[in-house]
Amino acid sequence: MLFQMSVLCLLCLAVFSQSRAQDQASFNRSNDLTGRCVYTFAVVSPQESSCPGNITKSETHEVLRRLTLLEGLVSRLIAGGASGTGSGGLKHSDEDLQEAYAQVTRERNQLKLDQERLNSQVQKLQSALAELSQETELLRQRPCEPTNTSGGTLHEITPLKGLVDHFENNSFQEMKAELKEVPAPHLIPEGNRSRSGCGELLSVGDPVLHRKANGITGKYGVWLQDPDPRGPYFTEKTVWRIDAVGKDVRQLFMYEDMDQFSKGFPMKVLVLPEPVESTGATVYQGSLYYQRRRSRTLLRYNLTSEGVASRRDLPHASYHGQHPYSWGGYTDIDLAVDEQGLWAIYSTAKAKGAIIISQLDPETLETRRSWETRIRKNSVGNAFMMCGRLYTVASYTTHNTTINYMFDTATNEGQAIAVPFKNKYHYNSMVDYNHAQRKLYAWDNFHMVTIFSTQRLTHTHTRVHTHTHLT
Ligand SMILES: *[C@@H]1O[C@H](CO)[C@@H](O)[C@H](O)[C@H]1NC(C)=O
Ligand SMILES: *[C@@H]1O[C@H](CO)[C@@H](O)[C@H](O)[C@H]1NC(C)=O
Ligand SMILES: *[C@@H]1O[C@H](CO)[C@@H](O)[C@H](O)[C@H]1NC(C)=O
Ligand SMILES: *[C@@H]1O[C@H](CO)[C@@H](O)[C@H](O)[C@H]1NC(C)=O
Ligand SMILES: *[C@@H]1O[C@H](CO)[C@@H](O)[C@H](O)[C@H]1NC(C)=O
Ligand SMILES: *[C@@H]1O[C@H](CO)[C@@H](O)[C@H](O)[C@H]1NC(C)=O
Ligand SMILES: *[C@@H]1O[C@H](CO)[C@@H](O)[C@H](O)[C@H]1NC(C)=O
Repeated sequence: MLFQMSVLCLLCLAVFSQSRAQDQASFNRSNDLTGRCVYTFAVVSPQESSCPGNITKSETHEVLRRLTLLEGLVSRLIAGGASGTGSGGLKHSDEDLQEAYAQVTRERNQLKLDQERLNSQVQKLQSALAELSQETELLRQRPCEPTNTSGGTLHEITPLKGLVDHFENNSFQEMKAELKEVPAPHLIPEGNRSRSGCGELLSVGDPVLHRKANGITGKYGVWLQDPDPRGPYFTEKTVWRIDAVGKDVRQLFMYEDMDQFSKGFPMKVLVLPEPVESTGATVYQGSLYYQRRRSRTLLRYNLTSEGVASRRDLPHASYHGQHPYSWGGYTDIDLAVDEQGLWAIYSTAKAKGAIIISQLDPETLETRRSWETRIRKNSVGNAFMMCGRLYTVASYTTHNTTINYMFDTATNEGQAIAVPFKNKYHYNSMVDYNHAQRKLYAWDNFHMVTIFSTQRLTHTHTRVHTHTHLT
């Protein structure tokens, strides 16, 4: 609880420092006994007591003062208009009227600006509150550990890691702590390929941190930008985030841009109609694509209309812990987007855990074509698509690991590779490629990072080969 209080305070301070903010959530207008119009603000924020009230007060006063002034001017104008037609009120010259009119316009514009500012502050606070409520709820659900109090000393604060482990063990998605590296490279000779503007992965950079989750629900999740956005309200700058810890994951956070994302101010929180399974979701052409919890059902959620636009089972796909990545966490079905469209990376009972790649129709979610690889899904930490090629990451925990295998759907051939890759925070739950940014997006142990990638655009193969054929 102490933690939450401090988060509340921080939030409050952050919001205030942004723009001597207002937390008035409702605005009331009524007539008083003399028939004058009176404006009042209602404050609903729970942060009230911890916020510096005087700033708010003076701002409120300012708005009120201007409103009163405006009311006065309007009534004078009305009175003036009435007097013009006869009945002996105040007389106004044209100049007076013009001046009054100009002033009214100025006041109105200023009020409009104020209102916009207030609205956006209220929206931000509401989003922040939603985030906090979710966290509170999860904290409540967590069973309390019996703690011994030794006389006179304070309770020891549970280290976050222990807390998270306990949390996951008791209530959440299955984790496999075991680490498996793919031992021997399986090498198949490569064929011919050349695609314009799209090349083989040469190297990746060091992870660049954009945001560290501050609640335990942020241990793992999905975060993305749409490489090909469609829709009036968002662009390629919009950032999307789902915290995947929990049994009923439905909240999709939308951030205006990377800056707001880094600061932790969502623009909007969308509540998905059906819960999300694990960290395989992706965002493409204005839709969120995700796997429904405990099913092989894929959903396309239109981010503009905020409704499910298509749904379809991914035929024969294993789900809910049958063929996850080595990390576990029900990562059975991983959706991916690259230059060539939408893909699903998964396995089936028939394939006995070997990775299957299917290209999906982004509209209907129908499978257009599938490829079966010879790499076992649970032997790799994660995978992503780039230029129609599947790449697998050997480990999700080892700091210095490699991208160890590549499968090309154009040639139907796979081969071992060894591109160095860093799991800087030792618990990488998601890796996705964004072709517009040419970056990998990853969620590594509370840390949301991007990783720059370099591709070979020409077509010469200089890789080191060790020609060991598969049996
Ligand atoms: C608005 O103010 C009037 C008079 O003060 C009060 O009766 C009413 O409940 C207020 N409405 C809201 C929504 O605060
Ligand atoms: C708030 O303002 C009042 C009067 O305007 C003043 O007496 C009081 O000390 C101020 N409180 C703080 C915390 O600044
Ligand atoms: C906690 O308390 C129980 C009973 O009071 C005692 O048996 C146990 O040894 C204590 N555990 C620790 C770690 O102090
Ligand atoms: C977590 O679950 C595993 C498997 O059920 C069990 O062996 C282990 O003791 C549990 N750990 C805790 C801290 O409860
Ligand atoms: C590869 O492609 C080039 C040009 O596209 C062609 O000339 C060459 O014959 C192809 N090689 C193979 C092995 O298909
Ligand atoms: C999403 O919904 C909006 C509004 O209904 C519609 O205009 C748009 O075409 C839809 N987008 C997709 C990709 O279906
Ligand atoms: C990872 O590799 C870098 C050099 O590439 C080295 O400096 C660093 O110590 C290595 N880290 C670990 C944990 O092995």
